[in-house]
Amino acid sequence: MDLINVFDYEALARERIDISSWVYYACGADDEVTLRANRSAFERIKLRPRVLVDVSQIDLTTTVLGMSLPMPIFIAPTALQGLAHPKGECEMARGAALAGTLLVVSTSASRSLEEVAAAAGGPLWFQLYITTRPTAQRLVERAEAAGYQGLVLTVDTPRWGNKERAARYPLSRSIRKANFENESEGDLPDPSCTWEIIPWLRSLTRLPLILKGILTGEDAQRACEHGVDAIIVSNHGGRQLDSVPATIEVLPEIVEAVAGRCEVYLDGGIRRGTDILKALALGARAVLVGRPPLWGLAVNGAQGVADVLAMLRDELEQAMALAGCPHLTSIDRSLVRLPHVP
Ligand code: FNR
Repeated sequence: MDLINVFDYEALARERIDISSWVYYACGADDEVTLRANRSAFERIKLRPRVLVDVSQIDLTTTVLGMSLPMPIFIAPTALQGLAHPKGECEMARGAALAGTLLVVSTSASRSLEEVAAAAGGPLWFQLYITTRPTAQRLVERAEAAGYQGLVLTVDTPRWGNKERAARYPLSRSIRKANFENESEGDLPDPSCTWEIIPWLRSLTRLPLILKGILTGEDAQRACEHGVDAIIVSNHGGRQLDSVPATIEVLPEIVEAVAGRCEVYLDGGIRRGTDILKALALGARAVLVGRPPLWGLAVNGAQGVADVLAMLRDELEQAMALAGCPHLTSIDRSLVRLPHVP
């Protein structure tokens, strides 16, 4: 089968991995309304291309928190990558390095954060779930010692979402969360966690702090008041609270509330270069992809990851050329037409 776009990788990944792993990766929470919305919302936004612009050179290079990246695309944290490939997160890290981009490694990885750092050839951020404060403190210290360059605190998980589809296909017991000696340590998020966690984390580490899972202007405002370095607009790929809007729909409200005080990234449903163009037009500095790199990993290891990222990069480059945008700085709000809300 010719692999022409990321959906081809999705179809092949589905054939390559067992049903329980597939459903765990693919599913959303409850009725999967938000999971579907993440895609359909992109389809409703239309582009307003400009013509007769010199697009003989397209420049995709950017920075996130001062780090140079070849493209405004990096890899979201996803748990248990050992379900897609025997080397799991270590192989994902090699794929990110081949693509020259940043990888965010999950607390719930199937390889320890030190093993992933040793295998990686490029920059890493560590994604943190707060289970207990002592456990979180230890993870932060380990991540800093292992050379991770940013700390991504996921804030949309006071409990795990209700992944009904996955509940029907229990995962094999052999897959482990390798960052914990005792698995129960890494299992339950602390539901009492509040904004006080941010000064506490700041007291532990000098790493830049990124909040993942912000969906309202109010919380974006609050995050800025707490001095975070960046926000990831995310609904966890539709896996937490079902019936929240698509991330692309809330992006404008968040960008407005932030008013340039920190960087804003977006994830959720990015499958095409034009999706990325729309997110950048509405004010995201970069996007993250969660499931597509898992598909690449399942189909062809590190090379598959790199191929999926290259497809998205090439599609973004093509979309920029056709839309009359030679640089990322030429992309602005005037490039999109939002759907008419009756
Ligand atoms: C996730 N996501 C996630 N987020 C996080 O902060 N920590 C984690 O451990 C995980 N684990 C996880 C597992 C799987 C299988 C998926 C699909 C997602 C959410 C992830 O970081 C990201 O927000 C979404 O995946 C983005 O949506 P797309 O690109 O998958 O549509």
